[in-house]
Amino acid sequence: MALYFMIPLFASIFFIFLFNSLLNLFKSKKSRDLPLPPGTLGWPYIGETFQLYSQNPNVFFASKQKRYGSIFKTHILGCPCVMISSPEAAKFVLVTKSHLFKPTFPASKERMLGKQAIFFSQGQYHAKLRKLVLRAFVPEAIKSFVSNIESIAKDSLQSLEGRLITTFQEMKTYTFNVALLSIFGEDEVKYREDLKRCYYILEKGYNSMPINIPGTLFNKSMKARKELAQILAKIISTRRETKQEYNDLLGSFMGDKEGLTDEQIADNIIGVIFAARDTTASVLTWIIKYLGENPNVLQAVTVSLLLLLWD
Ligand code: HEM
Repeated sequence: MALYFMIPLFASIFFIFLFNSLLNLFKSKKSRDLPLPPGTLGWPYIGETFQLYSQNPNVFFASKQKRYGSIFKTHILGCPCVMISSPEAAKFVLVTKSHLFKPTFPASKERMLGKQAIFFSQGQYHAKLRKLVLRAFVPEAIKSFVSNIESIAKDSLQSLEGRLITTFQEMKTYTFNVALLSIFGEDEVKYREDLKRCYYILEKGYNSMPINIPGTLFNKSMKARKELAQILAKIISTRRETKQEYNDLLGSFMGDKEGLTDEQIADNIIGVIFAARDTTASVLTWIIKYLGENPNVLQAVTVSLLLLLWD
């Protein structure tokens, strides 16, 4: 089996941070004198969105990176923004100066994920969602899924035999299947194909221009999102009828005391798939790459896992 280790550059651009404060920074006269990273902002409002979408986004980012380095400014999807792609810059934003930054998303992404998703919320509602998500992923809760996750991993490996693959794509399929299992438990088998079909159309529009007219990517994605929400509503109502207790994420969201609406549940399920999938697939891809390149480390990891199994 040959493995292709290259993650598309678009995915490896570590984080895109679009900040309201940055917007103000761009606007205020005083701040115009402040140093900003190199780069260009393009046309008013439209910025460089057309350049981004008139070609493969990887090419857009690669040419910017080549020209301006790992930190550069641009203007896409209606927001002035700074793109970062180096570990040092990510550490600066996420660790050393995290108090100066606030995560926000382009308006199109907010509509795709759903405005009541955890990423767009604050205060008590945010704290409640965080608690509900966390309690579905503590070791005690995921214990019962381990053997099913192992089956998914084995099936995935088997399906790779003799094929030339793009590792990141395969890892995305794997993480999607694990995400569905963690969210819907055993119910996922019944709905897997429909959920997959809708989610895959939805995610194609995540970074699309928010033009909602028939035929646009955004329009197709919004339709898929609507269908996804209908499937979720069906699963929720079936569960309500059976009155059974579930220890998966949907079970956590539906916990009686928490009182989330169907819409809030749908927004957050789509949100968690979005949060968990590409991130984890990317980490897995890097792990495979480095284990493939370092047989000694692979051997040490294999031995320590075997020892764990024998314990
Ligand atoms: C290696 C994989 C992952 C990486 C690198 C990653 C990275 C991140 C980052 C940078 C944030 C923003 C943090 C902040 O706002 O301060 C975040 C938020 C979040 N992630 Fe992950 N994540 C990963 C895996 C997952 C998984 C598997 C889940 C599924 C449960 C998940 C669920 C979430 C949620 C729900 C949030 C929003 C948290 C909040 O607003 O309070 N992530 N993640």
